[in-house]
Amino acid sequence: MTATVIDGKAFAAKVRGQVADGVAKLKEAHGITPGLAVVLVGEDPASQVYVRSKGKMTVEVGMASFEHRLDVDTSEADLLAVIDQLNNDPAVHGILVQLPLPGHLDSDLVINSIDPAKDVDGFHISNVGLLGTGQKSMVPCTPLGCLMMLRDYHGSLSGMNAVVIGRSNIVGKPMAQLLLGDSCTVTIAHSRTKDLPAVVGQADIVVAAVGRPQMVTGDWIKPGATVIDVGINRVEKPEGGTRLVGDADFESCAAVAGAITPVPGGVGPMTIACLLANTLTACCRANG
Ligand code: GUN
Repeated sequence: MTATVIDGKAFAAKVRGQVADGVAKLKEAHGITPGLAVVLVGEDPASQVYVRSKGKMTVEVGMASFEHRLDVDTSEADLLAVIDQLNNDPAVHGILVQLPLPGHLDSDLVINSIDPAKDVDGFHISNVGLLGTGQKSMVPCTPLGCLMMLRDYHGSLSGMNAVVIGRSNIVGKPMAQLLLGDSCTVTIAHSRTKDLPAVVGQADIVVAAVGRPQMVTGDWIKPGATVIDVGINRVEKPEGGTRLVGDADFESCAAVAGAITPVPGGVGPMTIACLLANTLTACCRANG
């Protein structure tokens, strides 16, 4: 292996420490405790794991954690009523509605009913527009975590060729906006991209966010490139049981890349750290 392994777990712990310091100062100077509300509809097992982990880390940095677990059959009107209540609750500075929502609920409508100032996911259409036009916004947590790791490792990203694989609203599109904001030359590749290995082979930075286990292999990677692996896929082990793998094949990519994020322990912990940082930011903005 030649690549430097970017330790997202350690970086995330540092970011959470900085958030905890900020929270303590807010409490001491102004008597304000930042609060994060997480809304989970239904019982999707992966979502339950995320929500539990978010709640635990929210409390660990000294914030107030509010959890709203709603029945899978909850009506849109009832969900919107919960969001309206959180929008108007001065103890709540950040609101996150866990996705995916059950099929009978209109995700766009639900997300756009969140007060944009409390939209710590950065998914509200007004935050998307602000980010796209380079204005101050709430920035989606996973791409923000990726950008922080890239800036930490490289310093300036100016002029680098970045290929983002995946065009989701949660990762691919905002990631591309952020890299463009840091003066990268950005390509968004996706399932219909022709000759994906050749496109990826041009990249100084590869962000893999497709949700396909180990799809990106070392022979696609330009020697010395940086690989940011957003995938979290559970796969069967040959000897039985399961393990988590990314969208990049770690072994073969690490043999060619200059730097790579592992799965687990790369992007994942940074996502939650950025959620907490966004909640602190929202609280500071709400209180001048
Ligand atoms: N589901 C998977 N990732 C996310 C995320 O970043 N935010 C929300 N709200 N739901 C998700």
